[in-house]
Amino acid sequence: MTFYEQVGGRAFFERLVDAFYEGVWTDELLRPMYPQDDYDGAKERLTGFLEQYWGGPGTYSQERGHPRLRMRHAPFPIGPEARDRWLHHMRAAVDVAGPPPLLREELLDYLDRAAHAMVNRNPAFRADPPATL
Ligand code: HEM
Repeated sequence: MTFYEQVGGRAFFERLVDAFYEGVWTDELLRPMYPQDDYDGAKERLTGFLEQYWGGPGTYSQERGHPRLRMRHAPFPIGPEARDRWLHHMRAAVDVAGPPPLLREELLDYLDRAAHAMVNRNPAFRADPPATL
C-alpha cells in the first residue's frame, strides 16, 4: 500500500491543503506572495503535487510538467521567517487532517526538509555586499 492509500487517498490531501491555506490566508507575510485571484488554483496545485509525491495519481505533472519546486519558488522571497511560518501553518494543518501516528512522523519530516530546501534568501548570508564596502 502506498502512503497515499494508507492515509485515505485524495480526501486526506484535500483536508490538509484546505486547512493549510486557511492559515496562509491569515498570514500577512505569506499571503501577499500568493495569487490573490486564484485561491482555488493554488489549492489545486499543492494538492495535486502532494498526492502525486506520496504515490497517488500523476495529474499534477500531466498538467504542470516536472515539479522543479526550487525553480518555481525562485520569484518568492523565502527567507527563514517565511519558511517557519509556512511550516507553522503546515504543521497545524497536519493536526487537522489527522494521519495515523507513524505516517504523521514521516509526513512532518518530509515537510520540514522540503521547506528548508525552499529557502532562497537569507539576510544573514548576503551574496551582494553593501555598496559602501
Ligand atoms: C518554505 C516556504 C514556502 C513558501 C513561502 C511557498 C510559497 C509558494 C507560493 C507563493 C506559491 C505560488 C502559488 C501558486 O500559484 O501555486 C507556491 C507554489 C507551490 N508550492 Fe510552495 N512555498 C513554500 C514551500 C513549499 C514546499 C515545502 C512545497 C512542497 C512540499 C511547496 C509546494 C508548492 C507547489 C507544488 C506549488 C505549485 C507549483 C506550480 O505548479 O506552479 N511549497 N508556493
